[in-house]
Amino acid sequence: TDANGSGPVTPEVNIIRRKLNGYVGFANLPKQWHRKSIRRGFNFNFFIVGESGLGKSTLVNTLFNRELYPQKEVRDPSAEKQTNVKIETVSADIEENGVKLHLTVIDAPGFGDAINNSDSWEPIIEEINSRFDQYLEAETKINRTTIIDNRVHSLVYFIEPTGHSLKPLDITFMKKVHTKVNLIPVIAKSDTLTEEEIADFKQRILDDINTQGINIFRPPTYEKDDEETILSCQELMSRIPFAVVGSTDEVSGKDGNNVRGRAYPWGIIEVDNEDHCDFVRLRQLLIRDYLEELRETTAKKLYENYRTEKLRNMGIEQDHSVFKEFDPLVKQQEEKTLHEAKLAKMEAEMKSVFDQKVTEKEKKLQKSEAELFSRHKEMKEKLLKQVRLLEEKKTALENSSRNMLDNPSQQKSRKRIF
Ligand code: GTP
Repeated sequence: TDANGSGPVTPEVNIIRRKLNGYVGFANLPKQWHRKSIRRGFNFNFFIVGESGLGKSTLVNTLFNRELYPQKEVRDPSAEKQTNVKIETVSADIEENGVKLHLTVIDAPGFGDAINNSDSWEPIIEEINSRFDQYLEAETKINRTTIIDNRVHSLVYFIEPTGHSLKPLDITFMKKVHTKVNLIPVIAKSDTLTEEEIADFKQRILDDINTQGINIFRPPTYEKDDEETILSCQELMSRIPFAVVGSTDEVSGKDGNNVRGRAYPWGIIEVDNEDHCDFVRLRQLLIRDYLEELRETTAKKLYENYRTEKLRNMGIEQDHSVFKEFDPLVKQQEEKTLHEAKLAKMEAEMKSVFDQKVTEKEKKLQKSEAELFSRHKEMKEKLLKQVRLLEEKKTALENSSRNMLDNPSQQKSRKRIF
């Protein structure tokens, strides 16, 4: 740390800027990276969430220009509504100009369908978390060279085209997920609203999003971005939330060409026409220009936040300067050592108590032995004394009886004496 103790001292680095005399070759690095990426391929996982019938599957099919979702039967509106939210995934390997993309679309059928939707976001949160957990677990394995990234890179939330403002369920759901995913709100089936209605609806949605402090994904600009990129990004931002229309059907366009769109008695809505809807902008954000950005934000920001929080809850503190890797084996070993130390301490404590008790008992026994010994000695001496006395008396008696026998006159006088 520095003199104030405020943080690590950064060593002074001298950057020498010089022109190269010849071609070295590192300008080729982007090409190397390009080749490697093409070889490896890409993957992209995104969630589509919204009430039933808002055109989610149609939009996914429109985005990737193929039938990822088979045509569904139109549900009977009088049929009983699905009450619980399920999680379903559709995966496909698609290729465009030699670039491979492994695509996974996660759907939550049943979302918002129940009468009480107070917890319909829970299975969705669980799915996002479990995908983060899978990644965390894979990262902590000994062999982690080929980790499959199943994390949710983006969540497209379909807003019902009511023309009013966000519903309480929309707000609650977005508030629940905005810290975990790159949230992209879209106005579903926007062909059901007029241009003016869309503009007003967008403004009200943005107001709600801002007042509720909901984080939505906004394409970033960087210092070295050229003017064109910055302008395109600003244009993209100005269209959020995207008013989309989906259709894979071809209709005859204005100039007689076949275009993807929806035909109405009063005219045609072209899906790929920027003047008709924001579909092209959504595709630009989700796939054409910012797919890698979405993946990077997921990995570097959203997943990192989740990981830090999770490890902290597990009692592992993060070193702010050096990020310590979490290894369950090390953790297990640490726990084992701690447990063994605890057991050894308990054993030592029990042993010392036992030893103390034994010493006390021994001392007591020794004391009582000594007491017994001295009592025994005393008694013995007493008895010996008595024996000696008795023997003395016996001898005296024997002597006197012998004298009496020898001298009877003495016997008389003795009688008198007595
Ligand atoms: P669930 O699977 O029930 O959740 O429905 P979903 O959200 O996947 O909707 P789906 O794509 O199945 O579309 C439902 C109906 O809406 C179909 O009849 C579609 O043709 C129609 N639809 C889809 N997109 C649009 C749209 O942009 N505008 C209009 N007007 N109708 C659409």
